[in-house]
Amino acid sequence: MWRTERHRLLPVLVASLGAALPTIATAAAPPADDRHLGVATCASTTCHGQAKAARGSNIQQNEYLIWSRYDPHAGAFALLFEERSRLMAERLGLKAAHEAPECLACHAEDVPAALRGPKFQVSDGIGCEACHGGAGRWLASHYSPQATRASNVADGLAALDDPAVRAATCTGCHVGDATSRFATHRIMAAGHPRLPFELDTWTGLWCTAGGREHYVVDADYLERKPPPASIDVWTTGLVRQGRQLAGILQARYRTDRGLPDFSLFNCYSCHREMRLADWRDRGRDAGGAPGQLRFDDSSLTLLSTALAARPELQRDLQAATLGLQRTAGLDAASVARAAAALESQLASIETALARSPLRRDEAQRALAALARSAARGDYPDYASAEQAAMGLSILAATVGNCGPDSAAVRGVFASVASDTGWRPDRLAQATRTAAALCGSGPGKPVTDR
Ligand code: HEC
Ligand code: HEC
Ligand code: HEC
Ligand code: HEC
Repeated sequence: MWRTERHRLLPVLVASLGAALPTIATAAAPPADDRHLGVATCASTTCHGQAKAARGSNIQQNEYLIWSRYDPHAGAFALLFEERSRLMAERLGLKAAHEAPECLACHAEDVPAALRGPKFQVSDGIGCEACHGGAGRWLASHYSPQATRASNVADGLAALDDPAVRAATCTGCHVGDATSRFATHRIMAAGHPRLPFELDTWTGLWCTAGGREHYVVDADYLERKPPPASIDVWTTGLVRQGRQLAGILQARYRTDRGLPDFSLFNCYSCHREMRLADWRDRGRDAGGAPGQLRFDDSSLTLLSTALAARPELQRDLQAATLGLQRTAGLDAASVARAAAALESQLASIETALARSPLRRDEAQRALAALARSAARGDYPDYASAEQAAMGLSILAATVGNCGPDSAAVRGVFASVASDTGWRPDRLAQATRTAAALCGSGPGKPVTDR
């Protein structure tokens, strides 16, 4: 819901951020490691839990209500129970997203047990202290008449008005960090959205979420902490994003166990568009984890289709192919081992086919199998779709009346005419038609075995 409002709010946001004010120069430091006391600690009605914005107070005092109703962060933990997350966890082989450290790192205040106060609950999601810092040292003092911004900051309240501090806080999750927070390519390929970020824009989007403001820059706010100009927030954010990248690369770029994580690279250096295809959950087990590179198995896939009537040979071939795919992205020795196993499997198939070539009734079964495979999504990429079209044309001519110029076979080739507009469902449709029209008939006399 919030998402749909982003574009509506952008113009408002841009207009409201015009004022150019000097930047406050403070050293960037992530929130101190103080105890997190929990959202309930902040939410009493005399503090931040009022139903309406307070009059005569420096702050609105309804921050809890705004957060719980409108802030996307309040729902970040609950999101891990949704169907999208359940599917992601399943694809990743995780027991449950809401228990997985790799998700909690960014979807909750994932602080160590020793730093959790009595009212702290992981189920609160991303609470006040995820951004403002653990309240252990400043809770009791931060609202006293004597407290100043400087004294609060000295006690560990994060100076989020300082763009450098804010940048470090937000990018920790929205970009990731060198320690526990990292959206790996496996996580992305299992269904996680890409993580675009820009500090000034994201601040505006966040604090006006639901059309309600998290804080108001009024006269007393301006006096206490004059906000930085957008352009300074922007450049500070860009610097911090670059530093997160540099830190992440130093900590996580590893080639000793195969290829580095693809999330370390620009997504668009490999992807031309970001499309999550649901057929991936239906088709054959292509081997390996979500988002893994695959060796070109298009010829092996069609050989497997051809062997539909020889289940033992087919099974061994599929196992050897899968074994090879599982090593894609691993070390050279694992790949060599799996490739050798595949090679010996192919040698046996070669011998078996030389001794007893495919008969016409077996070709008929292969044709039916090809149409079923196309419908199931077993030819998920253009290279195997192309092989499927060629295989179909040969099988159709072998078992039926359909030559390469028949409408049915031409329809199949048309469905894979180019690798740009190609779609698995069009191939499925065309092969189904061709199998129905060409699946029986006199066949080619010369090859009638
Ligand atoms: C590096 C931090 C990080 C990690 C790790 C992470 N997420 Fe996220 N996740 C985010 C951020 C940030 C967003 C919001 C992205 C946006 O819209 O800008 C998000 C959004 C989502 C969404 C909402 C998608 C949508 O379209 O609205 C789901 C679902 C989700 N994450 C699930 C998970 C699960 C499950 C895991 C663990 C396997 C996980 N996340 C790990 C940071 C992370
Ligand atoms: C996603 C990060 C984030 C979360 C979560 C968050 N805040 Fe904030 N909050 C900010 C930022 C950024 C500001 C603006 C900078 C500033 O004034 O320090 C701010 C401003 C405020 C202000 C105004 C400060 C002033 O001096 O006028 C109050 C009060 C406040 N937050 C309370 C809360 C409470 C209570 C919660 C939890 C219910 C909460 N915040 C949750 C980031 C967050
Ligand atoms: C502890 C990790 C964490 C921190 C810190 C954090 N965020 Fe988030 N943020 C998330 C996650 C996870 C989501 C997705 C929540 C959801 O969709 O329900 C999110 C969602 C958002 C969204 C909505 C994006 C969308 O497309 O729906 C905005 C905007 C945003 N955050 C801005 C900020 C800003 C600005 C800061 C710093 C003041 C910040 N966040 C700090 C994790 C974090
Ligand atoms: C080095 C190349 C490379 C980079 C860089 C890369 N990816 Fe991928 N991505 C792949 C490969 C390979 C697959 C698996 C494709 C397949 O199974 O056919 C994949 C699959 C995916 C999928 C699943 C798509 C599908 O159709 O199943 C998503 C989503 C995805 N990547 C997102 C991302 C995001 C987001 C980034 C950037 C953070 C990224 N990728 C960076 C190579 C890359």
